[in-house]
Parts: sequence; C-alpha cells; structure tokens
Amino acid sequence: MKVVLLPGDGIGPEVVDVAKAVLGALVPEVELEEQLFGGAAIKATGEPLPPETLAASKAADAILIGAAGLPEYDAAEVRPEQGLIRLRRELDVYANLRPARQGAIDFLIVRELVAGLYYGARGERPDGTVFDTCEYHPAQIDRVARRAFALAGERANRLTSVDKANVLDTSRLWRRVVAGLAAEYPEVELEHMLVDNAAMQIVLAPEQFDVLVMENTFGDILSDVAAGMTGGLGLAASASLGDGGPGIFEPVHGSAPDIAGRGIANPAATLRSVALMLEHGLGRPGEARALEAAVDDALVSTPTPDLGGSASTDDFAAAVLARVAEPAAP
Ligand code: IPM
Ligand code: MG
Repeated sequence: MKVVLLPGDGIGPEVVDVAKAVLGALVPEVELEEQLFGGAAIKATGEPLPPETLAASKAADAILIGAAGLPEYDAAEVRPEQGLIRLRRELDVYANLRPARQGAIDFLIVRELVAGLYYGARGERPDGTVFDTCEYHPAQIDRVARRAFALAGERANRLTSVDKANVLDTSRLWRRVVAGLAAEYPEVELEHMLVDNAAMQIVLAPEQFDVLVMENTFGDILSDVAAGMTGGLGLAASASLGDGGPGIFEPVHGSAPDIAGRGIANPAATLRSVALMLEHGLGRPGEARALEAAVDDALVSTPTPDLGGSASTDDFAAAVLARVAEPAAP
C-alpha cells in the first residue's frame, strides 16, 4: 500500500508531519511518499500540481493533503488552489464526505466535488464583465446522489437534498434527478431543502440532519458552517471519493498563514482525515476507530489554542501517539 502525502502550504507541512508519525505507528507497512503541491510546488517548479505529483497521486492507494494556499498568490495568475481543483478533477473524486459531529450533532455533508461553478466556463467580456458559470449534467448529479442515498442507508436513513430550485435551473435539474432516485432507496426518507434555509437550520437545529447532499459551491459554504457548529475548522475532516481510484483525504481548513510556523496548529482535522483514509482508502476500519478514539481523547486532555487550550501541535501528536500505542482493551 502506498500513500502520497501532499503537505502543501502554511500549516499543511506541520499537520502532515503529525499524520506521518501516526500512520507510521498504526500501519507501519504503508509506504509514504511526499510530493510537491500548492504554493510550495509553484515556488519549486512554477506550477501547483507538477506532473510528477499528479503521476504519483494517480498511482497511489490514497492521497493525504495538508493545505493549499498562500496569501502572496492571491492576485497571481497561477495559484496554489488551482492544483487542488485540478487534482480533484483528474482523480474524478466526485463525492466529498464531510462529517460533522459533536454532542447531539451527527450529520454528514456529501458535497459534489468535480463540477458546478468551480469547473464551468469562465471569462471576461470586452466591457469588463467577468463571469463564472454553473453547469451540471444529470449523470454528475445521479452518481453523487446515489452515493449519498447509500451512505444514508448505512446511517439513520434520512437524506436532505439541498438546492436553490426556486431560482436556479441547475437546482431544478438537481431536485428532479435526486427525486427520481428515491424509489430505488425506499428505506431512505428524502427531503428537499433550499440552501438558504439549510444554512439557517444547520445553525438553529443541527440535530435534525443525517446526510445532506448538495452541489459543489453550496457544499463548500455549508461545510464551513457545519464545522463552525462542531468545534471549528481545526476539527473538520474530509474524504473525496470516486469509483475505484485513489481517494483524497484532507482537512476542511486551509493553510492558516496567520499561525503557520508557530507549532500551534491543531492537527485533529488532519488526523480525522487519516481515520477516513484508513476506513475508505486502505480498508483498515479497526485502526480508523482506534485513531478516532485517540483524537477524541486528546481533544479533551491536550487542547490546542484554537480550542482554548495551550497545547502545541507536538503535544497533541504525543497524546494521540501514546493512546494508539496502548494495547487494545480486553
Ligand atoms: C475546501 C476549500 C477549497 C474549496 C479551496 C481551498 C479551493 O475551501 O476544500 O473547502 O473551495 O474546495
Ligand atoms: Mg471550503
């Protein structure tokens, strides 16, 4: 088994270092290969996703990303985030799973990841108007919706499809395709919810949700809202899955340049992404559970500054490593 590590930018290398140590402890037989990505790759090669990085990623069993993005490239033509957007498309990881749980909250956002506004035609007209376009083919909705129905079937059998069908044609298509699948998943209770209302419901009554499925941009936004409701971006993990090829596992947070290099980044989101990798990418659900439990414990015993504590990234890592090294309870 081979895992490609793409530390990338900002706090990315700091949190991926922790992941490396934990993966090494949990599954020593996995081969880890680091590659250039994001702003770090632009600096070294001029592009955010160099050919070697793409080739290694395609050949891997799973990919772990730290973060892509640096303020110095915000206005540049070539930007770190473009590497992420292209890698997702190249690997066709269309289903992005973003779990949100804390206390009574336990839901899963399934974000369509390789279409919509991020990938539509864009440009500038002679009069200075700039445009991005949102396009969906029914097949792109069908496959991610099926994934969401199946995931709901493994959980509490409830699926909320989020759209803006009162305004957007792509959303009307979305709703039609999702509704058309309901008969194939009779055990799953389906509801449709407008995205503005969904944002409010996640804030006011998040316990109502089980699985939510939505297009790319809505999912980007609502997954940050969900993270805000469940301990913040330091905790939110994600898995991006296609059909058969390697998945991409990455924290929902960005490169956090404001705290990069200070040794205080919370590695929990990355470690939870490693747990998703162990489960969905490497077929090691036992190790995934052990890591999740170790992270939950460390969040209580060794909180980092984003959680009101004073532990460093290394302190947190040590707490997790000590816990996963303990022999399993009889
Ligand atoms: C995310 C991030 C990315 C996205 C950025 C960094 C391109 O915000 O994974 O949510 O918008 O998809
Ligand atoms: Mg985002």
